[in-house]
Amino acid sequence: MDALPPTPLAALLNRHSLGPRWMVAPGPDEAQLALAVQAALRAPNHGRLQPWRVVTVGAAQRPALAALFERFARDTGKSEEEVAMERERAWNGPVLVAWVAHIDASVDKVPPHEQWICVGGALSNFMNAVHFMGFGAKILSGRKCQHPAIVQAFCEDDEQLVGFVCIGTATRGLEPREKDEPGPLLSAWAPD
Ligand SMILES: Cc1cc2nc3c(=O)[nH]c(=O)nc-3n(C[C@H](O)[C@H](O)[C@H](O)COP(=O)(O)O)c2cc1C
Repeated sequence: MDALPPTPLAALLNRHSLGPRWMVAPGPDEAQLALAVQAALRAPNHGRLQPWRVVTVGAAQRPALAALFERFARDTGKSEEEVAMERERAWNGPVLVAWVAHIDASVDKVPPHEQWICVGGALSNFMNAVHFMGFGAKILSGRKCQHPAIVQAFCEDDEQLVGFVCIGTATRGLEPREKDEPGPLLSAWAPD
């Protein structure tokens, strides 16, 4: 997409995830994070339910996160080497935020799938915003986002942990995993 002029659409078409091993400090500061959350709030949101929130994990909290990741690794029978790798992941991303969803199945007019769409739209807007600010980012989840101790550490009873977004300064260019082919995803309705 390098040939496109530098427009917002070109920036959007060039967003790709960047793994935490390819990022260094600095990540976004507090004001930039607040702006990204503001962009997340621009996602379609039926009923203004606001079914998501963001929790930052500061540098001082990384050891506590590592302890939780270790607990997950031990509870799932991982080897000592894997336990060490899981602990290490707590330091992924110079800036790390947890993405938390709150889906209320009792809302009549906004079924859960519409609330999830809002959660995903908000996440996308957030990630696009940090990309537009010049940072690399990636959301990672894995089975540990369903481990009770980790869920409890970030979520209230009626919430779910979607994943962790790592954000930082890219040490290499962003690369597409595959070419985006809109063709089969776009069709004209043809009623019988
Ligand atoms: C909620 C969510 C959780 C994800 N969790 C993981 C994960 O645990 N591991 C992984 O390799 N990719 C995960 N992904 C996918 C990556 O974040 C990324 O989107 C994917 O590698 C495609 O790259 P792209 O964003 O550049 O198209 C997740 C995506 C979403 C939306």
